[in-house]
Amino acid sequence: MKQILITGGAGYIGSHTAVALVNAGYEPIIVDNFSNSNKNVLIGLEKILGSPVKCHEGDCNDREFMQSVFRENDIQGVIHFAASKAVGESTKIPLTYYSNNINSLIILLEVMKDHSVKDIVFSSSCTVYGQPDELPVKESTPRKDAESPYGNTKKICEDILTDHIKSGAATRVAALRYFNPVGAHPSSLIGELPLGVPANLIPFITQTGAGIREKITVFGDDYDTLDGTCIRDYIHVMDLADAHVKSIHYLAAQPDNFFDLFNVGTGNGNTVMEVIKAFEKVSGKPLNYEIGPRRSGDIEKVWANTDKVTNILGWEPQYGLEDALRDAWNWQVSLEK
Ligand SMILES: NC(=O)c1ccc[n+]([C@@H]2O[C@H](COP(=O)([O-])OP(=O)(O)OC[C@H]3O[C@@H](n4cnc5c(N)ncnc54)[C@H](O)[C@@H]3O)[C@@H](O)[C@H]2O)c1
Repeated sequence: MKQILITGGAGYIGSHTAVALVNAGYEPIIVDNFSNSNKNVLIGLEKILGSPVKCHEGDCNDREFMQSVFRENDIQGVIHFAASKAVGESTKIPLTYYSNNINSLIILLEVMKDHSVKDIVFSSSCTVYGQPDELPVKESTPRKDAESPYGNTKKICEDILTDHIKSGAATRVAALRYFNPVGAHPSSLIGELPLGVPANLIPFITQTGAGIREKITVFGDDYDTLDGTCIRDYIHVMDLADAHVKSIHYLAAQPDNFFDLFNVGTGNGNTVMEVIKAFEKVSGKPLNYEIGPRRSGDIEKVWANTDKVTNILGWEPQYGLEDALRDAWNWQVSLEK
């Protein structure tokens, strides 16, 4: 079985990707420092998969540790999720974000070279587009100045990868620009587990539905959208996980020294109010929400053009927004038990 290293594999998207990799016949090897995840995710993975997933606890910025992981395994490709990801926090501790997100990529590329590992799938984000001038946004749409240090780390990492390829490195890169990952594995054994107050909409909604939060504030209802609230492209995390498996397949068939990037979204945008209504429908619970002022830095609307990921990777989303909200809600309910 081909071993695929997943850095940040105990995190939200990484853990779901571990499941998708096993289902596709790969052996995932997790590296995580548990700075933003809980070891219980390994128990959930074992229950879903019927056997434990190999996990090395350590930091991607620790070169010696990373060397040992590559020495001890026969890694054929890497999916690099490990990063700090909270936009708001990144404005308060930018140096931590630049250090963690950028250094870890550089060290990883160097260690991959030492061990002749060519393939890397990189977690980028639609945040690199800012508020795009055209919608739906294409991969060829120019990137905008980043709104936050976090967003800037994603742009810089994309640039590092393209420069690495331009230098002639024997590396094959697929950078995936995720739109808004939501939902959970349908088993409710793994899901999104934010530490502290959630920064993302869906966990805030499900925690409010569960009574952990008193109410949710919708930041602005005077945007130029159908109901005045912001539009995002919400993609089920299992669909996103599948895009990583397809990217690993795809890279294996490419020439050495290769770079490509893909939007991974559904191609549909939903307003915050549509998400709230869909949550109320699938959970059967009215949600306590209020309309507040706009939040600075929020993009009005963004959703993906998905022609490229469909045509080249043969990837299409299998789940809709209500599926994602149902799975997110079931996961939240399972956490209460
Ligand atoms: N969730 C989103 O909305 C979203 C959207 C776009 C892009 N992304 C990107 O996708 C990736 C995964 O996101 P996620 O939502 O699963 O985040 P997450 O925080 O749940 O997972 C990241 C994991 O990486 C680990 N980690 C962080 N720094 C590390 C380091 N130096 N060494 C080892 N482990 C480390 C954390 O402990 C965590 O388990 C990140 O790169 C993120 O920026 C996420």
